[in-house]
Parts: sequence; C-alpha cells; structure tokens
Amino acid sequence: IPCRVTVDPAFAVGEVPRRLFGSFVEHMGRCVYGGIYDPAHQEADTDGYRADVLKLTRDLGVTLVRYPGGNFVSGYRWEDGVGPVDQRPERLNLAWHSTEPNAFGLHEFVSWARQADVEPMMAVNLGTRGIEDACNLLEYANHPRGTAWSDLRARNGSPEPFDIRLWCLGNEMDGPWQIGYKSADDYGRLAAQTGKAMRAIDPTIELVACGSSTPHMPTFGQWEATVLEHTYDVVDYISLHAYFKNDPADRGGWLASACAMDEFIDGVIATADHIGAKKRSRRRLKVSFDEWNVWYDGRTPGTTEEWVPGPRLIEEDYDVEDAVVVGSLLMSLLRHADRVGVAALAQLVNVIAPIRAEPDTPAWRQTTFFPFALTARWAQGTVLETRPQVATVPTRELGDVPAADVVVVHDAARDGLTVFALNRHQEQVVDLRMDLRAFGPLAVTHHLLLGGSGLDDSNTRATPERVAPRSALGTGEGSRRDGDDLCVPLPPVSWSVLRLE
Ligand code: AHR
Repeated sequence: IPCRVTVDPAFAVGEVPRRLFGSFVEHMGRCVYGGIYDPAHQEADTDGYRADVLKLTRDLGVTLVRYPGGNFVSGYRWEDGVGPVDQRPERLNLAWHSTEPNAFGLHEFVSWARQADVEPMMAVNLGTRGIEDACNLLEYANHPRGTAWSDLRARNGSPEPFDIRLWCLGNEMDGPWQIGYKSADDYGRLAAQTGKAMRAIDPTIELVACGSSTPHMPTFGQWEATVLEHTYDVVDYISLHAYFKNDPADRGGWLASACAMDEFIDGVIATADHIGAKKRSRRRLKVSFDEWNVWYDGRTPGTTEEWVPGPRLIEEDYDVEDAVVVGSLLMSLLRHADRVGVAALAQLVNVIAPIRAEPDTPAWRQTTFFPFALTARWAQGTVLETRPQVATVPTRELGDVPAADVVVVHDAARDGLTVFALNRHQEQVVDLRMDLRAFGPLAVTHHLLLGGSGLDDSNTRATPERVAPRSALGTGEGSRRDGDDLCVPLPPVSWSVLRLE
C-alpha cells in the first residue's frame, strides 16, 4: 500500500509540550504500596522508595506525575497523609475497597517526585470535600510561611514550599461511580468557586476542570459546555480521560484507537472554543488528557472482597500489539501539540502500567514502556503538519480510517527530524514515501520498530527481557533514500520511529 507524505518546516502545528509525557500514581492496588513505595523490598532505599522503580521511571522519560487519584481522591483526607508516620490513621479506601495505611502521603510524594525528576500534579477532593479543604491543602503545599498550614508543613519537615503548579479540581465528577458524583451545574459551580479561592492563595497555579470520564458518557459534550460556562475564566485546562480495549469483533477499530482519540480531542477543543467565543474571551483553553491507556476492563480483577492494603488490581499484561496501539495514541497527542498541554499515561506501576514490580524480583518494563520512552526521548521540537495520502481500512465503530499514520517532529535546535509511523493494516506492508526536499541532506541515525510479528509476545516476570524494539537500520526492514524522498517499509500492525540528522 503506498503512502505519500510531504514535510515542510514552514507548516508547524506547535512545540511539543514536555508535560505531554506525564504519568499517574494513584492510591489504587499496588501502584503506591508495592509499587513506588515498598520499605520491605530489597531494592528499597532509605526512604522506602523502590530504587529499581525509580530508575525505570527515569528511563521511561516521564516528565510529570498526577497524584493521588483518580477515584481515590474523591474520598481522601490529605491531612491523614502528613505528620509523623506512626501517628497517621488507617482509613478505608472507598473507591477501591481496600485499606489505606497513609504511610505514603504528600511529603513522600513530593520527595519521590524530586528523585524521579518529575513535576508533581495534584488533585483536590471535590467528592466528599470542597473549597475549604482544597484551600488548606494548597496553603499547606505552596504558602511560604507564617500561617497555621504552612508552618505545619515546616514542622513536618519541609520548611520550603512544595511549589506545586498544576492542580486538578476533582476527578471524573461526571461518573456515577465517583464518590460525590455531581451534575454538570453543581460541579461547575463548585469548581469555579474552589478555583477562585485557590488562585487567591497562589495566583501562579494552573487549574484543570474535569471533563468527561470517557467520550462514551451520555453527558459528553454537554458536560464540558456546562462546566466551562461556570469555569472558563478560572481554569486553564479541561480534562479528558479515555481507555482503549481490543474488541475481537472489531480489531480494525482497535488498531484505529488513535482516530477515536483524535475525535475526542477535537470534540472537546470545539466545545471549549464555542464557550470561549460565546463569552467573547481571548483566552484559549488547553486540554489535559490526564488519563489515557489501553485497559482490558474486566480481564484482571478490579475489586477485592477483603479490606486489605494494596490488593492486586487491574495488573494488565501488555503484548506487542498493545504497544503498537500505545505508540499510535502518543502520535495522536503529538498531532494536537498546539492544544493538548498536559497528558498522563495511567498508571505508572503495576496498575495498567508500563512498569511492573513484584516483591521478590527486580522491576521490569512492559511492552508499552518502549513506545512511551522512545517518544518522550525523540519528540523534541516542533510538530509539523502531515497529510498522509494512503488508502483506508474499514472499521465497525469508526467507519473507514487511513491505513497508516505519520507524525513528524522537527528538532531545529539539533538539526534533527523524528518520524513516527504506524501501519494499522492487518496484512499488508505500507510503503511510506516522504518528500523531505525542504530539509538538507539528512541521514537516518536510528530506526526502531515494534510489531510486524510476535504481536502476542509480552514481558513477564519469567521473561522480562523478551520484547524490545528492534533496530531496522541496515536490515531488510530498513529505509532507503531516493533523491529527496525517504522510503520506509512499514510492516503490518507496526509502530516505527526514525531519527534523521
Ligand atoms: O486509572 C484507574 C481509574 O480509572 C481512575 O481511578 C479513574 O479516574 C478512572 O476511571
């Protein structure tokens, strides 16, 4: 299948925001306890953080981590997680039917985030709580000194403010499963008032209003419009959440998950801009895609009967095909670099995660680790417009979609070009031909490939190194120059990244 693309640095979409490479740590299952924090583990450092997980987090190239939830935050009392650990109360984690020992809280998270070299992104509880508690938390975290909350932070070991910039006003408040679930009007009013009060404490913060929990919510579209009627002038972002799953009856649709992500992002931007236009506002909101991933809802347990800390919840094993789809979802985010300012792969460790950690063995990388790490590493600079000319493939849900996708990032500072390419055709090779005449004589320095074969392979505890991207440089799968064109064969169901310098 031929696919033609012309690339020119004159047609820029926008700079790749470094916050696009966020992840998410929730007090859910074994993400915190038994994930990033496990004092009894042989890999634990003196703070109880797993050093192997910290190293993999850095290798993943994560730039930001959202915390502490997720559904968990809608029943969370943040004060339970500060002060002397032996005096912290044990509570019920109502979102995930487990117990919360509170050994890991705000101070531990901020200190872990510093070691992981990631920006912390906090969520406040707008489920069981409201304006006052959100303000107390912000004052505790960011106010320099001289007030009850900021002085308590100092007494608890952190005289310097945490200086947390990004704040989510609740989590998935449109979802009937959410503790304290609200109508769009009720949530919008509360979010606007909470945001206003928080800005009075620290005008430099950036705020995220809750959008829809999935694009399939019956309230999708109207929820965003109503919430933004209340919050447009107060917030900087509206959130999106979406999880994708392989439906055996529509594999074509699954391989086109990025098209569904594109539609979702475009729909939310259109709604936000509609409200902005109605308000005659010159501000343009951005979107925060702060939960996204592949999740086979129902394949692995999502609840437990027992009240225990850190139960095993949704510990998905990902295969190569999942990694191809994760790579394609990252391409969708990059394509919207001008409007998606923040994104977070949910979650970081064990719970639908690129990193797996067990009690008696070193942590390992799942297949989905690789497209994320490669994109975070190579997608630096400006996303350029690409309009691939290629045949379509049919899907049940999304109709006909392009058989291939291409995203190009121009790294002008280093005279480099990065090409991300997807073939979603299930049998045929796509012959990508890119016209690069607008660039100087660039040579391919890296060409890495996932998929094409071994689509069911995964990295497990027994075979933690089985899957890794393969280099196509100098192989039959490699690229060739033909005058101004770069020709790249894309195997069926594959994701590739090429670096040219
Ligand atoms: O990431 C798992 C859960 O999915 C989060 O707690 C919630 O926000 C979403 O529904």
